[in-house]
Amino acid sequence: MISNFIPEGVEDLNYEQYERITAIENSILDVFRASGFRQIKTPTFEYFDLFDDEGTAVSTEDMYKIVDNGGHLMVLKPDATIPIARMVATHYKEASGEIKLMYNTNVYRSMDFRAGGKREFRQAGIEYFGVSSYENDAEIISIAIRALKETGFHDLKTELGNAEYFNGLLDALTVEGIRDAETQETLRTMVEAKRIPAIDQFCEEKNLSARSRLVLRELPFLYGSVEEVAAKAADLALNDRMKNAVDSIIRIAAALGDESVSADMGIVSRLEYYSGMIFRIYLRNSGVMVGSGGRYDSLMTRFGKHIPAAGFGLNIDLLYEADQAETGDPEVLNIALGKGRLADLTMERLAEVGIVFPDYSKKSRKLIFEDSTGKYRIIFVKAVDVGIYVEKGACDVGVIGRDTLLESASDVFEIIDLQYGKCIFAVAAPKGFRYDRKKKLRVATKYPRVAKDYFAQYGRSIEIIKINGSVELAPLVGLSDVIVDIVETGNTLRENGLEVVEPITDISARFIVNRASMKTKENPVSELMNLLKERK
Ligand code: PRP
Repeated sequence: MISNFIPEGVEDLNYEQYERITAIENSILDVFRASGFRQIKTPTFEYFDLFDDEGTAVSTEDMYKIVDNGGHLMVLKPDATIPIARMVATHYKEASGEIKLMYNTNVYRSMDFRAGGKREFRQAGIEYFGVSSYENDAEIISIAIRALKETGFHDLKTELGNAEYFNGLLDALTVEGIRDAETQETLRTMVEAKRIPAIDQFCEEKNLSARSRLVLRELPFLYGSVEEVAAKAADLALNDRMKNAVDSIIRIAAALGDESVSADMGIVSRLEYYSGMIFRIYLRNSGVMVGSGGRYDSLMTRFGKHIPAAGFGLNIDLLYEADQAETGDPEVLNIALGKGRLADLTMERLAEVGIVFPDYSKKSRKLIFEDSTGKYRIIFVKAVDVGIYVEKGACDVGVIGRDTLLESASDVFEIIDLQYGKCIFAVAAPKGFRYDRKKKLRVATKYPRVAKDYFAQYGRSIEIIKINGSVELAPLVGLSDVIVDIVETGNTLRENGLEVVEPITDISARFIVNRASMKTKENPVSELMNLLKERK
C-alpha cells in the first residue's frame, strides 16, 4: 500500500482552511493593488549562488538544495526579495523612475521540527524600486498597516528602526579594534538576540571604551515612544551615521503620523542587506510578529543596478493562525519555570521583590499559579522545556539555566544573568584519565549540542552518547571515555571517582523573554525585568 503520511513541516489544507487563507491573501493583495503595485512571480527554483552571500536572509544550511540533471546546484526559493531584485536588475534593466511590484509566494526553509516548525511559508508583500525619500518609506509602512487593518487585524504595534544606527556603531568600534567581519557578525547576533550577559562579556574581553560599552549596553533597550527613543539615541550616537539614522526615524514617523508607531533602535536585522529604515509589525493581542521590511538599496548594487529599493513581507501563515486562535489575556504575564532547584530559587527571588503566589507550595502538584495581584502567572514546566514555551509564546518570559538554554538554542531574548544557580560545564573523566589521540573520544552527555560545539572548535572528532541522567555512570561502566556535564559542588564527581579534565564555561540562571512579548507586553515585561535586575 502507498504511504499516506506527508512530510513533517508541510500541510494539507481542507477547503475551509484554504478559502480563509485565500480570503486573507486577496484582501491584502487588493490593498497593494489599490496603491498602484502590480503582481509578479519568480520561479520556485533558483541557483544556489543567488543566495550564497553573507547578506542573505537565510543561512545556507537552512536552504533546500537540489542538484539538477546538468549538475547545477539549485535551491527552493528561501526568500522572496532577492529573486525580485534579480528580476528587476535583468528584466527592467533600462527602466528609470518607479517600479512598483507585489508578490504572493511560498518560500522554503528547513526548520527545527521539534518546535512545530514549518518548511513552507506563505508570504505576501511589496517591493518599491526607484524611490528613496522619507515620505516613500512612510508610504511603504502605511501600506503594510492598511493591508492588515483592512483584512481585520486592527490591534497592531509597529516598530521603526534604522539599520544604519548599528552600522554606525560598528564604524565607531573599528577604531577600538573590532575590525574583522566575523567578530562584527558575532556582535550583531548578540545584539539581535538581546543576549545581555554575552554583550557584557564581549565588552570586557575586548576592553571597549566606557562610551562604547554604554551604547552597546543601552542599545537592546532603546525602544518606546519615537520622541523619547530618538532623544536618547541621539545622545548616545557616536558619529554622523548614527545621528542620521535617528534623524530618519523622526522624519519617517512624522510623515506617517500614526500614533501606534513606536521606535526601536535596537532592531538589528539578521538581514545584512537592509541599509536604512527597518520596521516590524506585531499583532498586539496574539503577540506575534506578522510583518517586517525595510530599505535595501545596497542589495541592488550587488546586481549592478544602482537604484534605491524598499519593501516588506507579511507572513500569511501567522495571520491565518492568529485569525483562528483564541487570544490570551493581554494583561497577564506568563512566566515559565523549570520544576526543580532553579524554580525554588526563583520563587524565593520573586517573593523578595514582592511578587507572591498565595496558593503555591513546593509540595503542590498544581502546575499553574497566579500571584496576589493577578498580574503574573507561573507555569511550571519541565526544565528542558522552558526555552520552547517562551520561544513559541505560550509563556512570555522564563527562567532557565544557561546550560539548558545553550543546549536548546531557543530563539528568545536572553536579558538578565540572575547570578544564582551557578555551576560550570565541564569535561570530566575517571581519575588519571589521559586522552588517547589515536582513538575517537567517546563522550556521554545530556548536552549533545554543547559537547559537539565544544570539541568541534578544537577539531577533535568525537562520538556522542546521549544519556538522560546519572551521566557519571557512563565512563565507570565503559560506555564512554569522558562525560560533558554540569558540575556544581563537585560532590557527584568526587563520590564516583571522577574529576574535571577541562572546564568549558560558566553557568547561571538566565531571565529570558519571548521576542514578541518584549514589545506587545512591554510594560509588564520591563516592570518584572527591573525588579529582578535591582536585586542582582
Ligand atoms: C546534575 C549533574 C550532576 C550533578 C552535579 O545532576 O548532571 O550529576 O547535578 O552536581 P554536584 O556537582 O553538586 O554534585 P542532576 O541532579 O540534575 O541529576 P541527573 O544526573 O539525574 O540529571
